[in-house]
Amino acid sequence: MRSRHSARQASKTERSLRDDSSDTLSFSNNDYLGLSQHPEVKQAAWQSIHAHGTGSQAARLLAPNYPEYQRLEEALAAWKSTERSLLFAAGYLAPLGVIPSLASSRDTVIIERNAHACLFDGAKLSNAKIRIFNRRDSQDLFQILQLTRKLNPQGKILIVTESLHSMDGDRLPLKEIVDLKEEFSAWLLLDEAHAGGIFGPQGNGLATELGLTARVEVQMGTLGKALGSSGGFVAASGEIIRHLVNEARTFLFGTALAPAQAAAAFRALQIIQSQEGEELRIKLRANIETFHSNRETSLAGPIQPVPCHDNQTAVDMAHRLLEQGLHVPAIRPPTVPEGTARLRVSLSARHSPQDITRLCSSLHELLPLP
Ligand SMILES: Cc1ncc(COP(=O)(O)O)c(C=O)c1O
Repeated sequence: MRSRHSARQASKTERSLRDDSSDTLSFSNNDYLGLSQHPEVKQAAWQSIHAHGTGSQAARLLAPNYPEYQRLEEALAAWKSTERSLLFAAGYLAPLGVIPSLASSRDTVIIERNAHACLFDGAKLSNAKIRIFNRRDSQDLFQILQLTRKLNPQGKILIVTESLHSMDGDRLPLKEIVDLKEEFSAWLLLDEAHAGGIFGPQGNGLATELGLTARVEVQMGTLGKALGSSGGFVAASGEIIRHLVNEARTFLFGTALAPAQAAAAFRALQIIQSQEGEELRIKLRANIETFHSNRETSLAGPIQPVPCHDNQTAVDMAHRLLEQGLHVPAIRPPTVPEGTARLRVSLSARHSPQDITRLCSSLHELLPLP
């Protein structure tokens, strides 16, 4: 422990819990539409607590099958245009249950190089052979698929990737990846954690926006970002969900999410699909455009990284912004690759245009554009 602590201090990658809970202006959370603070979302949680108490009391198969779960699972499946969906206690737990249920030591998981830790952890737990691809280079994926099929013609192949990257903020070239997956009879687990609520006609995600939903075997999402609650889910065919109910260990062997979390997410999902949700997305897009016009970037989503290169600069910048009342986290290895430390600006429909210009003027002062 001590040597690792020293190494972290030397590389400026030591983390600690924040000791302030002050009223800073936050650009650090993933509440992209501000729904965690919506009065009707809070009300839905309160009503559920009143009816059922604060916790689920047991793992899903042992706890009462609260109506909140069923209602939300049906709504998520409809939103994602799949037959069924299944809730997990956290988004993190979904791939840890799903990937080992779909792939084993005879198979291959081809995972995007900078995919989220939970996708890597799920792949490792599966004992499948892991191969890495670069999401910005379809030729790279093509070659890996070709080699994998050659070396292991009978094995299953599961491609695992995010649709909107959690740290780089860019969108996946999904159409090319889906075409390749089909060429090699592979399956795709698409993590739409950050795209849910944001892209697609009713915030359904990138797969729906591009008309590819029916061609993605497993769509994964979280209730903890645009849906303003906490928990995770996967949406897939009835056959896949039935399999997961029986085999996904993080579903089977952990306490289920509280019914109030499901109730809050259900109300948030209704808002996301309504005219109000559309207006929130328009507001978010306007904030993103204000940020673009100030920082010369063009990333379409709410995640806007500001490169700092070295860890110390990122930490210093985050501190100086905090002194000005702005909370923008420094993101360092191992969350991102060595040499790519950054500030991760997370924009929300909650922000006013003045909030965005205030942030941009502080960034100009501290990190002027070249
Ligand atoms: C891409 C991605 N997938 C999954 C998760 C895990 O979801 P949750 O926070 O709901 O556990 C995260 C969390 O940040 C994420 O960024």
